[in-house]
Amino acid sequence: MIGFADQGGAGKVDRDGTRGCVRWLRLTVTSIPVAFPAMATSPSAVENRRDPEDEKGPEGPRFPELVGAAPPSPAGPIEEAELATLATAPDIRLPKLAQTARFSVRQIEFVFKARRELGEVFRMRGVIPGGPVITSHPDHVKSLFMAKPEQAPSLTGESPLRPILGPNSVLTAVGPRHLRQRRLLLPAFHGEAIAQYVEMISAAAEREIDRWPVGETIALAPRMQAITLDVIMAGIFGIEGRPAPGTPEEALRTAIRKAVAASTWPTSQLTELLHVGREEPMGLMKMAIDMIDRPTYAVIRDRRCAADLEERHDILSTLLLARTEEGEAMDDKELRDELLTLVLAGHETTANSLSWAWERLTRNPEPHAALVEAVRRGTGVAGETAEERVEATITETMRNRPVIPIIGRRVQVPWRLGDYGVEPGTAIAMSILLVHHREDVYPDPFAFRPERWLGRKPGTYDWIPFGGGIRRCLGAALAMAEQRVVLTAMARRLDLVADRPAPERAMHRNVTMIPARGARVVIAAKH
Ligand code: HEM
Repeated sequence: MIGFADQGGAGKVDRDGTRGCVRWLRLTVTSIPVAFPAMATSPSAVENRRDPEDEKGPEGPRFPELVGAAPPSPAGPIEEAELATLATAPDIRLPKLAQTARFSVRQIEFVFKARRELGEVFRMRGVIPGGPVITSHPDHVKSLFMAKPEQAPSLTGESPLRPILGPNSVLTAVGPRHLRQRRLLLPAFHGEAIAQYVEMISAAAEREIDRWPVGETIALAPRMQAITLDVIMAGIFGIEGRPAPGTPEEALRTAIRKAVAASTWPTSQLTELLHVGREEPMGLMKMAIDMIDRPTYAVIRDRRCAADLEERHDILSTLLLARTEEGEAMDDKELRDELLTLVLAGHETTANSLSWAWERLTRNPEPHAALVEAVRRGTGVAGETAEERVEATITETMRNRPVIPIIGRRVQVPWRLGDYGVEPGTAIAMSILLVHHREDVYPDPFAFRPERWLGRKPGTYDWIPFGGGIRRCLGAALAMAEQRVVLTAMARRLDLVADRPAPERAMHRNVTMIPARGARVVIAAKH
């Protein structure tokens, strides 16, 4: 458990800059492609100019000074000859074991300190074999998101989730297998498919809110998880409301809740570390998986025989009917891996993002009041609509508290990251947390200021809570829909206050970053 880097560090510039310097950098960004045309077109150079389309709201950004840009930095695949001319990234000077321990338990302090001392590209040892080199420059991020899949496969193929989800799920597979699974799943997560879930999400949220006690302290995280688990199970299995008692769906829901709760035990953190690089689950993890597998296979068997399979729109039925271009169907093991992937990837993340939203709002009276006013009256303090204010609040929460703080790719060819060269076979990690706290891109980066986003869409390479490229989160549209509906319902119906004035610290659980006390609030009134 650790403190967030803003505690005591608010307003500071990462490296050696000052606000004046930041302004200078922004001027430089716009002038560089003209001054150095060769750099802008070189294959290893990528620009970080914002897409002008992103800047267009109905009237453009209302607070243009609250989002800037990073200076350009060349990045991407390079020839061996160029690699030989470049320096290697500076190392964190700590024993491997100490690095692994600090990264796993104190990732935030660890990466902010390393960036302060070593710059925006540095190398750590331990945790992942062969690296990782950690970067926080949007141009470097762009080079990895746009890379050919075979040049920079995702590190999720090596994640501790692999023994649980198997090597073939959309999250853990790499190469052609990954593309095949992604194509099969994509239609179920498309914006139009998600639109049909909105009513169901709203019903799940209202049901939960109805139960909450006024005048008492509650931890929001488990409550948010109850909503998002209902939503994902309804979406996957096509069940309205909670699964009926005695059904395999209900047994599955119970097993998942128990397994997620157990993942907070200290032993689970250890189990997770022990599984890095393993193919098969062992010990406690194996027991938890068996508990989940039995009802999962039962659900699949039942559904295969369902008479109305063709008419059903849920994800499991869609997957049972799906065929690859070669006409192949998915077998039970493949279906189990995908279903479990979606349940695990899809509910805790969204629940924690919502929990962080309220943790932040209840400590920031102005944005909180602005959200409540916009939702209850339909217009906000800056003349924005309720939808714009809700969107801005979610966007800023996901910038300020990204629930997945780091993602990675393993480069197969020499790579350039600014002034540094990276050997083939090295893992490159993109610290979402560090990208989102660049002073040049987000002036006053530690402050929670949803108004940054009024009239402005987030950038593709400097707002990356869902990752990007061909590995971008498959459930992003669903996660955004859930957050919009639940945040709106809560702002409309509840007067919430923090149980304590001090911000909640961040804790790492599995691959996520969550509020350490579960986002505790007191419900002062219900409407
Ligand atoms: C706020 C909520 C969520 C956050 C912050 C989040 C974040 C992420 C991130 C950072 C990645 C890795 C992207 C990369 O490496 O470039 C990812 C991948 C993925 N997410 Fe999410 N996620 C969320 C919700 C969901 C939901 C609701 C689902 C599904 C129901 C989902 C399913 C997946 C899947 C299947 C992948 C793997 C995609 C691939 O490798 O092709 N996520 N997510």
